[in-house]
Amino acid sequence: MLKNVKTGEKGRIPRVTRFHLRNLDVFPNTVLSPMDGVTDAPFRRLCRVLSGNRMGLLVSEFVPTDGDAVFNLEGHKQLRFFPEEKPFGVQIFGRFPDKMAAAAVKIAGALKPDYIEVNAGCPAPKVAGKGSGSGLLRDLPRLQEILHDVRTALDQNGLDLPLTLKCRIGWDSESINVMETLAIAEGEGVEMLTVHGRTRLQGYNGLADWDWIGKVAAAAKIPVIGNGDVNSVARAFDCIENYGVAGVAIGRCAMHNPWIFGQIADAWEGKPAHVITAAEALDVFKLYYGFKIEDGSTDKGAEGRLKQLAARLCKGFCLDGADSGLAGADDVAMQVRQELLSSSCAAELLERAESLKQGIARDLKFDPDRLANLNGAKETEIKYGDQFKGR
Ligand SMILES: Cc1cc2nc3c(=O)[nH]c(=O)nc-3n(C[C@H](O)[C@H](O)[C@H](O)COP(=O)(O)O)c2cc1C
Repeated sequence: MLKNVKTGEKGRIPRVTRFHLRNLDVFPNTVLSPMDGVTDAPFRRLCRVLSGNRMGLLVSEFVPTDGDAVFNLEGHKQLRFFPEEKPFGVQIFGRFPDKMAAAAVKIAGALKPDYIEVNAGCPAPKVAGKGSGSGLLRDLPRLQEILHDVRTALDQNGLDLPLTLKCRIGWDSESINVMETLAIAEGEGVEMLTVHGRTRLQGYNGLADWDWIGKVAAAAKIPVIGNGDVNSVARAFDCIENYGVAGVAIGRCAMHNPWIFGQIADAWEGKPAHVITAAEALDVFKLYYGFKIEDGSTDKGAEGRLKQLAARLCKGFCLDGADSGLAGADDVAMQVRQELLSSSCAAELLERAESLKQGIARDLKFDPDRLANLNGAKETEIKYGDQFKGR
């Protein structure tokens, strides 16, 4: 069982640093894992800028297809992306093969993304409970039909772009079926499989089971992207080296550390690790705010997203010169976090970030790697939790 430890040695480069999605050469082998309500165009832009434009793949938040009688491009704000985001994928979810196929054709035809991805991972009761997202893992024939119909519809419309799939390892610990999912995906022409190493019932509890991800990677003919709890360069290194995946998808860590993609690219390019200062970390809010406003967000909307980022990012602050694991380090992080989260508006949050830079932040360092896990709990083991039992 993989413990959540950091064992990758500094300066080491994994054997695999890139992969191919059909004829796309993806370097570094990272994906910003889609997060509904987080990874919108401004957040993706933030990560891309901070990485020095060195991100592997970007993908939209998941786009629902069940609701509309006829899929309507204008009705889905998740479909907005900028040309500089490419290579870029659009992820769709739903339970009706015909609707999924129609949406895929419309999106691919109009927006020309680099790939279309089907979601078979979302655990939310309103999605999975209705048979979409990870609900498809309880009905693999339906998943197969969706993949078949989407691929066929794309081909029939001359839309020759890759189809990819993102799934969990199964519905619950009694029904882990990720190997069957892989076989179905490959049989239906899926060209990349991202595996989040948790069951649906686990939600985000415990740790992801990378042993299952490793088994899929070993059996697959297509690139397998491992996903779950990658929270540092060292961990990305470990996952790629020890579990044979083509790359890693990184979700929640990007909120704690939006520099992670650039740090991985630096490491894979043999460059020294870029140490982020506390002041640099606090400057991110101004940058992000600008991107949100440029994207048409209201001030209130931008404030919400700044606080969402602050809640995670501030956990990386600790006293400079002290061991970041020492008692007391968390108190400082909490102080900075509280200062930002209690702001009454975006302007105040930005002012406070600025004065923190001149004040307390001069004694702080930013060390996002100190976080043991990404779900906020003290869990260090895989646990097949029951967050969604009965729902
Ligand atoms: C707030 C939130 C929203 C998410 N939305 C999506 C989504 O739209 N599509 C998807 O495939 N996965 C979604 N996920 C799952 C993540 O992409 C990822 O699989 C999961 O967080 C595990 O990776 P991590 O440990 O790197 O965060 C979401 C996760 C979170 C926390």
